[in-house]
Parts: sequence; C-alpha cells; structure tokens
Amino acid sequence: MLQEELKKVKSLVDEFLRIFFEGKRKKLASVDKEAANLVKEIADITLRGGDRFRPFMVWLGAHAQNQKSKSKNQNYKSKFKNNKSVLSVPCESVNLIRDNLSGEKKENALIKIMAAIELLHSFALIHDDVMDSAATRRGGPTIQPPNRAILAGDLCFTFADELLNGAPLKVKEVYDELREEVIIGQHLDVLASKSKIKNQKSKIRKLLFEIYEFKTARYTFWRPFEMGMAAVGGYSERSEESHLKKILIQIGAIFQMRDDYLDLFGDEKKFGKKIGGDLKEGKLTIWHEKAMRRLGKSGELGRYGEIWGKKNTTREDIDWVKTQMEKLGIKKEIEEEMKEISEKAVGELREIREIREDAKKLLIEMAEFVITRKM
Ligand code: IPE
Ligand code: MG
Ligand code: MG
Ligand code: MG
Repeated sequence: MLQEELKKVKSLVDEFLRIFFEGKRKKLASVDKEAANLVKEIADITLRGGDRFRPFMVWLGAHAQNQKSKSKNQNYKSKFKNNKSVLSVPCESVNLIRDNLSGEKKENALIKIMAAIELLHSFALIHDDVMDSAATRRGGPTIQPPNRAILAGDLCFTFADELLNGAPLKVKEVYDELREEVIIGQHLDVLASKSKIKNQKSKIRKLLFEIYEFKTARYTFWRPFEMGMAAVGGYSERSEESHLKKILIQIGAIFQMRDDYLDLFGDEKKFGKKIGGDLKEGKLTIWHEKAMRRLGKSGELGRYGEIWGKKNTTREDIDWVKTQMEKLGIKKEIEEEMKEISEKAVGELREIREIREDAKKLLIEMAEFVITRKM
C-alpha cells in the first residue's frame, strides 16, 4: 500500500513539476539560452530520481486528520479529504494541475505545497553536492561547476517560495522552521567533518544524532507532515509536543542511518551516488562513530584515520574499511540498531490515536521501509 501511494504522489508531483519547469524554461529562453539550460538541468536532476518522500509526508499530514478536527481551511479539506475508508491519492491529477498553474481559483491547492517541498529538496541536494564534492547524484552527473550549482540551487529555493505564495500562513511558518533546521543541520554536518571531532568520543554520538535530526529527520518527515496538517487547518500548538513528532523524528534518524549504511554497502547503480563518498569526505556517520570506539581496540585505528577524509581514497581503501566493518561486527550492529529503532517506532505508532487509522498504517509501513530501501 505504501509503495502504491508513494507512486501516486510521485506521478502527481512530477506532472506538476514538468509543467512548472516547462513554463520557466520558456520564459527564461526569451532572456538567454543559458538561463533556459540551467532550468533544463534543474528539471532533469529533480525528475530523474527520488521517491518524493517529502511531498508524500505533506499529503499524508493533510489526510491524517481525524474527521473530528475543525478546519479553518474548508477549501482544502473538502477537496483533499476524499473517501472515508481507504486513503488514496486523488487521481484527477492533470486537470487539477493545469487549473492550479493557470492561477485562477484553486491557487492554494495542496499540490503546490507538495511541489514546493520537492523543489526545496532539489535545492538542498544540489548545494549538498557542492559541500560534499560529489560527482554523482541520482545516477547522473551533479551540476557543474560548483559556482553554477550554487545558482541552480538558489533558483530551486526561489521557485519553492514562489509556489508557496498564497499558502496559509501556518504552512509558511512551519516551512520557515523547516528551512532553518535543514540549513543548521547541514552546517553541523560540515563542521563535524574531518579533523575537528577526532578526540571527543563521548560527544560524537550525541552530535551524530543531532545532525541526523536536523539535516534529515525534521526536514524529511516531521515538518512536511506538519505542513500538510497546517494546510487543512489541523495544526495545533500541541503538535509541537506530540508523541507523533518524536516518532517521526526517530523514523527520520534511521532513514539517514540507512543512507550512511548504503554509502558504504549500497549497490552503486541503485543508490545513484558514488560508494565511499562519506569516507572520502571524512564525514561523521554512524560508521565513523562506531569505528572510533571499536577500531582503537583492534589496533587498526591508525590506518582507518589515514583513509577517513583522505580525498583520493582508492578502491582498496574502501574495501579495507568495509572488511573491517564486517570483521568487527559493526555492520551487523548498525543493522540491528536500525531494526530496533524501527520496531520501537512501529510499536509506538500503534498506540497513536490522534490520526486516522489508514494514515497510521502508512506510517507503520514507512517505519519499516526506510531501513530496507536501496536508494
Ligand atoms: C544531506 O545528507 C542531507 C541533505 C539535507 C540534502 P547527505 O550528504 O548524506 O546526503 P546524500 O548522501 O549526499 O544524498
Ligand atoms: Mg551528500
Ligand atoms: Mg551532506
Ligand atoms: Mg549520504
């Protein structure tokens, strides 16, 4: 069911974005050919991969409200709150999208919020690849050179803003929190790279989970869900203290843990990024956190220290680290830890009462899916 709903959200959002990018490309082509090329490249990197997790969470947040909750935005509610028993993405997509883009009546529709969050994600990824000196994204080359990638990211950022014009104030406010948080998370990630953290073993784990929470968990799960809630007037101040928020942040943490995991043990073709990128950049990952504690005891810390953040890491270096991670049981430990957090989240989700049962089921599937995904 989750996969089906994800697919529907993806086709809805992608259809919207295709039309949106084409409009922008045409407009900018009249200014300059290179401007239009930049839009083309943004469109390509956005549409050639990705699961649309964030738009999905916006959509789910909007649909998850219990029937009882009062809505100030009846407009959204009646349009997107579809049949009562089975939660399903509305499929009148193309007409809905064209109506929205023509900017007439339905300018506040949920699809714009969903597309905006995906554009913000493109911004985050494009800039992230500059920060991480990454050459590959979603199975293709990253936008180059870096100064051009910065501008491409900036353009995505402003496109997202544009799509949120006319969104309810509360949606904008949550979005502002989200933007701040992901940028702070990325800043912590950059600061934690290489040299600076080597000797603070006791603090590393806390810092790692703080980075996970800010660069990924809030931004991918909790805040988009909250934006969806806010879109249908289902947001309340209590949400900030809610158990659901804590659970979604946990799910987000294992989502990033899985990303770190795949960075070393993923299948490059499916993953769409170069294996060993985190090692090359000297990133603070779950691997590194465990390696710092465990390699010391095995007397291999010296060699690991040379490889971590070396930049010109070789295939042998990466294979050596992988072997160590397996030999020391770190790989298994991470797998177990992800499973443990996932199972705990599932158990806690079952107890949640404030959202619809069908939405809850999807969140439960999500908690299981994030730790098995291949990309
Ligand atoms: C960055 O984390 C998360 C963002 C805010 C984009 P990573 O640097 O681990 O992401 P990938 O592995 O390059 O996708
Ligand atoms: Mg990266
Ligand atoms: Mg990064
Ligand atoms: Mg990564």
